[in-house]
Amino acid sequence: MDGNKVYKRLNGMRIDEKDLQQRLLDIENNVVHHKRFTELYNMIHDCHHLNDGLVIMGDTGAGKSTLFKKYESAYPREKKMRIRNNHTERYESVPVLRVELDSNSSPLNVASKMLERLGDPFTNGTEKVLTARLKKLIPDSDVKVILIDEVQHIVASDTQKVIYKAADWIKQFANDVKIPIVFGGIKEKAKKIFASNAQLDERFPNKQEFNVFPYSTYDEQIEFRGYLKGIEAKLPFADRSSSKISDPYLADKIYYASLGTPRTIYHLIRHASSKALRAGSDMLEEKHLYEGFDLLSFETRPKVINPFDGKVFNLDVALEKENIKKS
Ligand SMILES: Nc1ncnc2c1ncn2[C@@H]1O[C@H](COP(=O)(O)OP(=O)(O)OP(=O)(O)O)[C@@H](O)[C@H]1O
Ligand SMILES: [Mg+2]
Repeated sequence: MDGNKVYKRLNGMRIDEKDLQQRLLDIENNVVHHKRFTELYNMIHDCHHLNDGLVIMGDTGAGKSTLFKKYESAYPREKKMRIRNNHTERYESVPVLRVELDSNSSPLNVASKMLERLGDPFTNGTEKVLTARLKKLIPDSDVKVILIDEVQHIVASDTQKVIYKAADWIKQFANDVKIPIVFGGIKEKAKKIFASNAQLDERFPNKQEFNVFPYSTYDEQIEFRGYLKGIEAKLPFADRSSSKISDPYLADKIYYASLGTPRTIYHLIRHASSKALRAGSDMLEEKHLYEGFDLLSFETRPKVINPFDGKVFNLDVALEKENIKKS
């Protein structure tokens, strides 16, 4: 998205639906390259070019899949030609192969999914057959790094045997394809896979955490506000600079509402912006966040209160009322 995108002024007139949808899409497409995001992006880059493995585990909604998608998009697929056995053939080069595992996957599904992503029409067969096809197709498609997201789904059940078998397949696969693999997944579940198989665990010594934003120390608060600043800088409003979501006053409230989770922040900002634009506002104000907050689901926080009431807010007191510790 263009950083300097200028939005039409609404002057209190309700936005038309097409413009609204485009502006909401602009919010969705704004990926903030915050500190941890950039660190991990660079680690994937190193892994890709230095032929190393990497595991990125973390809290749900922290941004793992967003990071993988961003990395993939930096290395687009290309239609190419090559000569083989005296024949010219067309093929698609896929420098970065990214797969996202569905729930209840098995090694067989993983192989089939990768084949599908490489455009292979034959995705049925035994685990052995598919794995063999994959090992051939990966170099044939010029794949240089594989990103396997939601790796926790490779264990369809929690029995030790299933976990071990999946871990063993991964290990064997990694040894066979001889190109770097980066795994992403939810911490607790992904950890179990590596803990179940010492050889796999040792093959991937670089394990990184990618968690939601902490907000205890001064530096962490600055960091969180920096993230909000990245969102603020591209808000789809004519007067975006008047929307002060990164000021401590609103940042505290947004931390309380999201507990530092980018996914919740996205939903909050999207709902609030939609309300504001429908009301013809040219900036995002606290009252819109109030309305946006009411559209969020807080199943696990029955005592949560809407902090966007225009009043001074004490984060520590509010969290204490819910028995929540700042991470
Ligand atoms: N760097 C970012 N900039 C802007 N928005 C982000 C960023 N990271 C995450 N988000 C928002 O949070 C949402 C959830 O992120 P994502 O799906 O990447 O999390 P995840 O860590 O993969 O979660 P899960 O473990 O549940 O799969 C994204 O759809 C996006 O809206
Ligand atoms: Mg994800």
